[in-house]
Amino acid sequence: MAKDTPQTFYLKDYTPFGFDVESVHLTFRLAPETTRVLSRIRFAPKPDAADKTFFLYGEELQLISAKIDGQAVTPELVDGGLKCAVPSAPFTWEAEVEINPAGNTALEGLYMSNRMYCTQCEAEGFRKITYYPDRPDVMSTFTVRIEGDEPVMLSNGNPVGAGEGWAEWHDPWPKPAYLFALVAGDLVNHPGSFTTKSGKEVELNIWVRPGDENKCAFGMEALKKSMKWDEDVYGLEYDLELFNIVAVDDFNMGAMENKGLNIFNSSCVLASPETSTDANFERIEAIIAHEYFHNWTGNRITCRDWFQLCLKEGLTVFRDAQFTADMRSEPVKRIDDVITLRARQFPEDNGPLAHPPRPEAFQEINNFYTATVYEKGAEVIGMLKRLVGDESYYKALKLYFERHDGQACTIEDWLKVFEDATGRDLSQFKLWYSQAGTPRVKVTEDYAGGTYTLTFEQSTPPTPGQPDKAPRVIPMAVGLLSPNGDEVRATEVLELTEAKQSFTFEGLASKPVPSILREFSAPVILERETSNAERAFLLAHDTDPFNRWEAGNALAKETRVAMVLDGAAPDAAYLDALEKLVRDDEQDPAFRALVLSPPSQSDIAQTLYERGYTPDPQKIYDAAETFTQTLAQQLETSLPRLYAATTVEGSYSPDAESAGKRALNGRILSLLTRLDGGEQAARQYAAADNMTQQYAALAALMKAEKGEVQSRAFFEQWQDDRLVMDKWFALQIACAAPEKTAATAKALTQHALFDMKNPNRFRAVFGALAGNHAGFHHASGEGYQLLADNLIALDKLNPQTTARMCAAFQTWKRYDAGRQSLIRAQLSRIAGTEGLSRDTNEMVTRILDA
Ligand code: PHE
Ligand code: ZN
Repeated sequence: MAKDTPQTFYLKDYTPFGFDVESVHLTFRLAPETTRVLSRIRFAPKPDAADKTFFLYGEELQLISAKIDGQAVTPELVDGGLKCAVPSAPFTWEAEVEINPAGNTALEGLYMSNRMYCTQCEAEGFRKITYYPDRPDVMSTFTVRIEGDEPVMLSNGNPVGAGEGWAEWHDPWPKPAYLFALVAGDLVNHPGSFTTKSGKEVELNIWVRPGDENKCAFGMEALKKSMKWDEDVYGLEYDLELFNIVAVDDFNMGAMENKGLNIFNSSCVLASPETSTDANFERIEAIIAHEYFHNWTGNRITCRDWFQLCLKEGLTVFRDAQFTADMRSEPVKRIDDVITLRARQFPEDNGPLAHPPRPEAFQEINNFYTATVYEKGAEVIGMLKRLVGDESYYKALKLYFERHDGQACTIEDWLKVFEDATGRDLSQFKLWYSQAGTPRVKVTEDYAGGTYTLTFEQSTPPTPGQPDKAPRVIPMAVGLLSPNGDEVRATEVLELTEAKQSFTFEGLASKPVPSILREFSAPVILERETSNAERAFLLAHDTDPFNRWEAGNALAKETRVAMVLDGAAPDAAYLDALEKLVRDDEQDPAFRALVLSPPSQSDIAQTLYERGYTPDPQKIYDAAETFTQTLAQQLETSLPRLYAATTVEGSYSPDAESAGKRALNGRILSLLTRLDGGEQAARQYAAADNMTQQYAALAALMKAEKGEVQSRAFFEQWQDDRLVMDKWFALQIACAAPEKTAATAKALTQHALFDMKNPNRFRAVFGALAGNHAGFHHASGEGYQLLADNLIALDKLNPQTTARMCAAFQTWKRYDAGRQSLIRAQLSRIAGTEGLSRDTNEMVTRILDA
C-alpha cells in the first residue's frame, strides 16, 4: 500500500470470518535465519456466512508450499496475505513457510533476543509466523511441535511429549492466535507451585537466562498472591496444570498474557534488592498480577475485534489496581494512579491524539495501546462500579463469566451484563466508551437558610472528529465539612446526567466546605473558584485521603502558576501547611512523600495552557527550582531529624510500609542536598546496600551536579547489568539542566552500551529526554531534533516502539510560535521520510493534523 493512501479500518465494517477453525497443528523447525513453520489447520465453512472469501493474513513470509486435503494448491498471494479457492465442505489446509527470526528487529512475530527464540503476537504478529485468519474472534485449540537443539522449548498449555531435539505442547483452551507463544533457548527456571481452591496442583515456573535466577523469588511470590487474590475476590481459578513466565530482554511493551506462557520484558519481572528500587518492586508485582488476571479477562473471554481492546485491558487494569490497593495502601494507590492518569492520559485526551476508550477507526492497531484504552478504560469501570455499588458489580461480573466464557465479546456484551444484573439503563453511560476528551465540570455553590446548593455544569471540548459532545453520566462523590473541620455529610455519590444540574443539602447550621470528587470518582477536570485558605483547610481536615492530597496538589499548582506568571514568591501559607504535614509523624510516610512531591513541570504547562497562557518551559523550571530551594530552607532545622526518623534500618524488604518510609526519606534527602552540598547523599551512597537508597542518593547528587564520582562508580559496579544500566542512562538525562539535556542525551547515544535495537535502552535515553520538560523544550530545538533523528533511524528497525515515542510531540500546540514551528519542522521531516512505517506515519499525521 502506498504511503499516501494508508488503509483505515472501521468498527462499523465488522464482518465475521466465513470459516470455523476446528484445530491448529504447528511444527517449528528452528534455525536463526531460516525457521520453517508447518501448519495443518482444519477449516469448516460456515453455511450462513455472508462473506465466503478464504483470505489468510500473512506478512514477511516466504511460502514454500500449500495443500488442501493433501493436494498441492497455488494460492493467490495478495497484499497482506493470500486467497485460495477452497471446498465447500470442511477441509485441511497445510502450508510450509520460511521466516527469519534473527533478522526480526521489529520484535513482532517470532524473533530472537540474546540468542533466545521468542514470540510476540498481539495484536497482529501471528501473521508473521504463518498464514492464518489472524483476528481475535477466530478461536481454536493449538497443538505445537518444536524441533531444534535448544535446551528449553516451550509453548502454550500443557507439555504432551518431549525427546532429543523436539518438544510437543497442547493447549486445550480455544484461543485466538494473538495468544500463541513459543520460547526456546538456554533458560533456567525458578520453580514454585500453587494449589487452587478446588485442590488442583499447578506447577509454576519463571524462566530466565542463566545468571538471573536470583532475581525471580519476588515475582514468584507476586504470582502466587495474584492467583489467590483472584480466587478470593472474583472466584476465578486457574485452568491449566502449568503456568510459565519467561523474561526476555528485548520486548516492545511491559509483558504479554499468552495462555499459560506469559512473556515479560525482563524489566517487569526480574527483581532483587541490590538492583531494583521500591518502585520497581511495586510495578513488577502489579504487572505479574495484570498478566495473570488476563487469563480470565482477556483469554477465557476475549475481544471480538481490536476496537474492543479496552474490554480486556480496561478491566484488567482495573483488577490489578484493586489487587495493589489490597496488597498495599488503597489511598496511596489511588493517588499514584491519578498522577499517572493526569500525566499520560490527560495530555492524550486533550490533544491531537484524543480518541475514545473504544476507538472507531485505526490504521495501525499497535498505535491504540494507549493510556486512554488502558487507564481511562479502567476509570470507566471504576465509575460503573461506583454507580451500581459493590454488590451489583460482583453480581454482574459473575454473570459476565457465566454468559461469555469461551467467547470473543464487545463492549455491548459487557454493558448488557450490567443492565441485566442491575436493571439499569446504561445507554447514556455508554457515551464514556464512544466520546473522547476529558469532561470539564464547573462547580458553583450557594448557601441560604440552612440549605446548601451545589451546581454542576459539564462540557467536553471538541476532539479530532468529534466537535460536539453530549452530557455523560458522571458519578460525583461529595462530602461536606463544617468550618471547624468536622464532617457534617459523609460521602455521597451524586449522579450527574445533564449539562447543568443542582443538588441541595438541608439543615446545615453554617456554610459547609465541600469536598468534591472524592477518591477522584470520575476522570474529569473540576473547575471551581476557591481560595487557598479553603484548600489548606481541606489539606488539614478532609476525611478523604485522596482529596486531602488533591488539596495540597492544587495549592502546589496555584503557587507555581503564580510564581511563573507574576514572579511571585512561594506562597507562605502553603509552605507552612507543608511543613506542618511533613513534620507530623502521625501521618503515613507514603502519604507525606506524595504531598512533598511537586506537580510535574509538564502538568504546570498544561494548566497554564488551559487558562489561556502560553507556557514558558524555562520559567516553569526556574519556578520549580526556586520553590524547592525555598522549601528546603523553610524545613532546614527539621531536615536532619526527619532524615534520621525516616531512614529504614535493617535488611531491605520491599513491603509497602518500608517503601513508604524510604519514599519520604528520599524526598527529605533531595531537600537536604540543596543545603548541605551533598554530604548526606554521598554518605548514603557509600553506605547503601539496596538500589532504592543507592539510586535516591545518586539522583540527589546528580540533580545538584555533585554526582560525578558516584556516577562513575555506579557505572563500574553495574555495567554488566542491563536493567541497572538503563537507570544510569536515564538518570543522567533526567537530572541534566535544561541547556545541557539534549547534549547529555546525544553523548549517551555514542556510548558503547547504547543499543538502538533494545527498546528498554532506547526508551531509557529518549523517554528521559522527552520527560525532562525544560530540557526537551529548550528554545534551541536541539531536543526536538535529536529525538526526530533517532525516531527516523529506529523506524527502520522497530516501527512499533518508534510510533509510541512520537507521542512526545503531542503537546506541541501548547507552546509559543517559535517552538511550534521547530516541532512542526521535525514532525514534517519524520513524515517525509522515505519508506516510513505505517505505524509512525499514522502517529505523525495525527499529531500534525491538529
Ligand atoms: N496485552 C499486553 C498487556 O497489556 C500488552 C501488549 C500489547 C504486549 C501488545 C505486547 C504487544 O498485558
Ligand atoms: Zn493487559
